[in-house]
Parts: sequence; structure tokens; C-alpha cells
Amino acid sequence: MKYIANSNRYKDMEYRRCGTSGLQLPVVSLGLWHNFGHDSSYENACKLILGSFDLGITHFDLANNYGPPPGSAEEMFGRVLRNELHAYRDELIISTKAGYLMWPGPYGDGGSKKYLVSSLDQSLRRMKLDYVDIFYHHRPDPNTPLEETMDALASIVRQGKALYVGLSNYKPDQLKEASTMLRSMGVKCLIHQHKYSMLNRENESLTDVIKEEGMGAIAFSPLAQGLLTDKYINGIPKDSRAAGNSVFLNEDAITEDLVKKIVALNKLASSRNQSLAQMALVWALQKGELTSVLVGASRIEQIHNNVKILDNMVLREEELRLIENILNG
Ligand SMILES: NC(=O)c1ccc[n+]([C@@H]2O[C@H](COP(=O)([O-])OP(=O)(O)OC[C@H]3O[C@@H](n4cnc5c(N)ncnc54)[C@H](OP(=O)(O)O)[C@@H]3O)[C@@H](O)[C@H]2O)c1
Repeated sequence: MKYIANSNRYKDMEYRRCGTSGLQLPVVSLGLWHNFGHDSSYENACKLILGSFDLGITHFDLANNYGPPPGSAEEMFGRVLRNELHAYRDELIISTKAGYLMWPGPYGDGGSKKYLVSSLDQSLRRMKLDYVDIFYHHRPDPNTPLEETMDALASIVRQGKALYVGLSNYKPDQLKEASTMLRSMGVKCLIHQHKYSMLNRENESLTDVIKEEGMGAIAFSPLAQGLLTDKYINGIPKDSRAAGNSVFLNEDAITEDLVKKIVALNKLASSRNQSLAQMALVWALQKGELTSVLVGASRIEQIHNNVKILDNMVLREEELRLIENILNG
């Protein structure tokens, strides 16, 4: 049966303006880094994407290399879009990126114009789209002049292949320079995407530049890939990311010291009638001054749980202090 979106989908979700732009993003967005490759089923991909959209999640984040294998998450998303979500294209903000190794030879990695333009063309073909809403440079490339990378992004916008551009994993000084350069080319840097969670604080130094430049901010891995949930409190579940094939999270990350902190954080979250995942998302949005948190999920129930943050989006000073004590303990 053909998918028909929940008619109440915009009732509860909060949308935040992305910096000083006209674009609004949902406070919770869905990332397709894991669980959308050849190791995942089309049925589950449909449940996650359509189920998220039914909850008002309009923003889906991809990259050329998401899979495995690289490119397969975009193909999977394209299939769901074509078969089920096509009629809702104008209600979606679809982002993709290039910047990490994608194909062999000198043109499949980095920040050259050759790489960025051809990679976006490939992404559009995989997703069967005419344009993406946001195209990111995925990480800075020290071997390409910044001007060339920004020129590539600006020309992509002028050609209509992306409506907006963003940068990811830049350091504050690089971000300032890149954003200034883009503006001189007549294009605004819409958003910066960086890692941020209670367990990864190093990008707090980006906040000033992001504000000065009028950009939005979206955090990836706000749950530290699942560590900031209650799932690892009593061991490592077989169906978790840490137990699976991910090269980015393995069982070694779950130390005794970390579990002690998670247990204490979980107790504090319970006192707020929240799950630890919910409290961790609220914390990231508040402390990171974010437009949106970019979560991943292996099942739709996790997204249902995460959007419930909308019931209680404020951490009081005392709670913030208790969290600091636990993290530093
Ligand atoms: N720009 C970049 O360089 C970059 C890098 C990394 C990621 N990203 C983007 O950020 C997105 C999110 O990254 P991420 O997947 O690491 O985010 P995350 O939200 O920190 O972790 C997602 C994982 O947490 C678990 N989870 C989520 N909600 C849960 C809940 N309510 N209860 C229990 N467990 C829950 C699931 O783990 P299980 O799978 O174990 O169930 C899920 O796969 C990516 O998809 C991608 O779009 C960008």
C-alpha cells in the first residue's frame, strides 16, 4: 500500500531557524551513516525514514560514503524516496557531503573542485534527485587551497545542484576564513556540522564563530553513537552498534569508568522523567546552542523515544551542575 504521511506530523515538532537564514530545521534530524547500507533491509529503512517523517522530522542527512559499501545509503534513501516519499519532496531537507575517500585515484578524496562537483553529480544520480538541499564539504583538506573548495561550493549553488552549502569538521579559524570567502563569492555558509555530546566537548570552541557568521549548528553523534543511552548499562547487547561491524565503535569503548558515569547520568535522567538518550539530546541542544541534533537509529522506537524531548527541553542550572560533576567524577 502506498505511504500516506501522518496528517499531524507538524503538530508537535519544534523547528528552529538555521542561523540567520530563512531555513528552519527540526530540532531532531535523522542521519543515515549506519543502518542504511547493504547490511540493512529496505523494510527497516522505510520504517526509519517514513516513521521519522511522520513525527515531523523533515531533515535527512547523508554523505557520499555512507553504507557499507560507500554510496549504498544514498541508493537506499533514493529508493525509499522514489517509492514512498516522492510526493513530499518539497517538505524534505536532504543533505549530502563529500570530503572523505570515495573512489580510487587523485580525484576521489579531499577538497578539489574536480572531486566535489563529480561527487555531488554521483550522489544526485544515486538518490535520483535534481538537487540536494544542503551540500557539505565533509572535512577540511590541507592540500587544496581553501579558495578552490569554496569556489566549488559556490558554483554548485549557482548551478542549482544544491540550494545551500555547509561545512563539517572545520576548526574555528578555518571556518571563519571559509565563511568569509564564501560570502565574498555571494554565497552564505548555511550551517556547520560537528561532533558534540556530553562525551565529546572539543567543538565548543566553534560556537562564537558560528554565531558571528550567522550560521546554524547541527551536532553529529549527540548520543556518542549510543553510549549515552541505557543500552550498555548491563553489558553489550548483540544487536548494538558496539557489538556489530562498525569500525567507529567497538566494545573497547565501554570501559568500567564510562559505565559508572552512564549509570549516574541515567539516574539523573530518571529524576526528570526522561531516558538518558533524551537528557543527552536536551543537554547537547542547550549547551551546544544548536539548531538541531543529528541522531542515528537502528529502529524506529529509538526515534519515538528521542522526539519525546519535546516534552521537557530545559535543563536547570542545578541539573547542569550535577551532569558536570558526573562527567568530571
Ligand atoms: N559530518 C561528519 O563527519 C559525521 C560523522 C558521523 C556522523 N555524522 C552524521 O550524524 C548522524 C548521527 O550519528 P550517530 O549515528 O553516531 O548518532 P548517535 O545518535 O550518537 O548514535 C546513534 C545510535 O545510538 C543508538 N540510539 C539512538 N537513539 C536511541 C535511544 N533512544 N535509545 C537507545 N539507543 C539509541 C542507536 O544505536 P544502535 O545502533 O546500537 O541501536 C543508534 O544507531 C549520522 O547518521 C550522520 O548523518 C556526520
